[in-house]
Amino acid sequence: MFRRNKPADDAAMPEDMVVIVDQSVNPYLVLFHEPAGYRAEQVRALRNRLVAMNPDGEPKTLVVTSAVREEGKTVAALNLAMALAELERNQVVLVDGDLRRPSCERYLNLNPAPGLTDVLLGRAPLDRVLRPAGYRQLMLLGSGARVTNPAEVLGGSRLDELLHRLKERFQYVIVDSPPVLPSTDAGVLSARADGTLVVVRLEKSLKKQTRDAIRAVQDMGGNVLGCFVTELRGHDPESDRRLAYEPSSEGEGS
Ligand SMILES: Nc1ncnc2c1ncn2[C@@H]1O[C@H](COP(=O)(O)OP(=O)(O)OP(=O)(O)O)[C@@H](O)[C@H]1O
Ligand SMILES: [Mg+2]
Repeated sequence: MFRRNKPADDAAMPEDMVVIVDQSVNPYLVLFHEPAGYRAEQVRALRNRLVAMNPDGEPKTLVVTSAVREEGKTVAALNLAMALAELERNQVVLVDGDLRRPSCERYLNLNPAPGLTDVLLGRAPLDRVLRPAGYRQLMLLGSGARVTNPAEVLGGSRLDELLHRLKERFQYVIVDSPPVLPSTDAGVLSARADGTLVVVRLEKSLKKQTRDAIRAVQDMGGNVLGCFVTELRGHDPESDRRLAYEPSSEGEGS
């Protein structure tokens, strides 16, 4: 199990408590490293909007994707899954649906293990490959053994069956996926999910590519819920103290 980053208010920490900052976990996993920070709050705001869209508390499968590579999909999917897992009684699973360039295990500093492909190919039972992600009650279904034909593996009927089983067991199933434009995998996953979030990397993502990606997901039968904009500038608590809202220390403000 990982320990979180040292809280800002370290004066409140008992002296004999050793805090290990696990730098091997991707630094942009803000729910893990800076749970009290502004960026983590932004992810919680997105989570709250998604939860509000789902007032009956029915299970939800959400695919996180973007137009092209390296736009922040995996980090966004992991942060969102962690934020959902913070809610009491929420059982959440993060599925690494990127069979081409999987990275969830690496970002969580976990060793590669059997996962999605092994279940889809009937090589391993689901129960044996689900494992704790190292954050609250969040579970991980890694991408599994590398395959040479990801589109075929995802395209089979076993994916429907698997998502159905995950929905029975978890309130939220977050699926990290490859980018939309280079392959059909993200479209295939989106078509089988309840909703799709499209990640946009501010100042880097091209508007036309994002628009094309949204259209491609919709053409495949996916339900695009909205965009998740990352790398916002000018909204940094360090540049505007009013945006920061850390817990006050005792006696402050009295
Ligand atoms: N908000 C952010 N600000 C700056 N860098 C970020 C941010 N989020 C992620 N990164 C970094 O950008 C890189 C790409 O992020 P990530 O792996 O989440 O993107 P991706 O879209 O999943 O990529 P791929 O298409 O390869 O799967 C990583 O090195 C990650 O650490
Ligand atoms: Mg990724």
